Amino acid sequence: MKRRSFLDRSTLGVTSLLIAPSILSSKDQEHNTVSNLNSTPYVLSTWNVIKANEIAGKALDRGSSALDAAVQGVAYEEANIQNTTVGRGGSPDRDGTVTLDACVMNHKGNCGAVLAVENITHVAALAKEVMEKTPHVILAGAGARQFAIEQGYQLENLLTEESKKAWEKWLEKGNYKPEINVENHDTIGMLCSDAEGNLSGVCTTSGLAYKMKGRVGDSPIIGSGLYIDNEIGGAVATGLGEEVIKTVGSFLIVELMRQGLTPQQACEEAISRIVEKQNGKPDFQVAYVATNKKGEIGAYSIHSGFSYTLYKNKLNKNINSNSVY
Ligand code: GLY
Repeated sequence: MKRRSFLDRSTLGVTSLLIAPSILSSKDQEHNTVSNLNSTPYVLSTWNVIKANEIAGKALDRGSSALDAAVQGVAYEEANIQNTTVGRGGSPDRDGTVTLDACVMNHKGNCGAVLAVENITHVAALAKEVMEKTPHVILAGAGARQFAIEQGYQLENLLTEESKKAWEKWLEKGNYKPEINVENHDTIGMLCSDAEGNLSGVCTTSGLAYKMKGRVGDSPIIGSGLYIDNEIGGAVATGLGEEVIKTVGSFLIVELMRQGLTPQQACEEAISRIVEKQNGKPDFQVAYVATNKKGEIGAYSIHSGFSYTLYKNKLNKNINSNSVY
């Protein structure tokens, strides 16, 4: 949707919704929140991650908290060496080193993140440990790796033979150009709502393939790759991280939902903010998924080819998001 038409259509509604909370008593607001609770657990993930989604969904059905379920779910893909965009088997940087980024955020607004970590597969779980066991929110590089060792994580070689071969082929091109997937997996973002209606989320990635050493994208940056406000909803991003960071995309979506937009409208507006800074439709991909406290979901991307996976009521489906800028 073009920004102009979005504004034309939504200005009145958004303005009145901006005013609405100030005229509601806090009791009314509390009632609104509680009556909107949807206590059927569900899992919403970026891309086709059927197995990871199922693991998280079944954990929720067994009574797991939203954050524990999300960390368990993404752990499957972090260990899946066929997936070249997260965990072990992820594409390396231009020097041939695999570095991973992840963050988590829970229903209390607590969060943790690890950036540019080497030799550790399960960085989402590590980010959760940063949140729970340190006085900090972010640990980066050698410090994050050291913390992982202290927590008992095994050091592993994250560069598989397949990703090494692909990197060597990329090197032959001889010009520096990182690669972003437009129609394939990228970062995995997962939003979970548990039986109590509490929302949490995780974002995990090996980042942009063949990035410069030390480059970090949006995925471990709270507010960019992931944001949760348990009163409102949550959002996660996938795609070219630089563009998500510039617009603080996930925080933006949650704030737009706070102003009354549906998750779908909020995702569309966040994509518009990126595209309208470009000279025409860009050749990179960014996509968002979001959910609110009513259990409504939204998904939107710059280009076609994006899909998301939804687990609810024991049904687990990968859905092509035909909703494109
Ligand atoms: N969204 C992944 C990255 O840009 O690193």
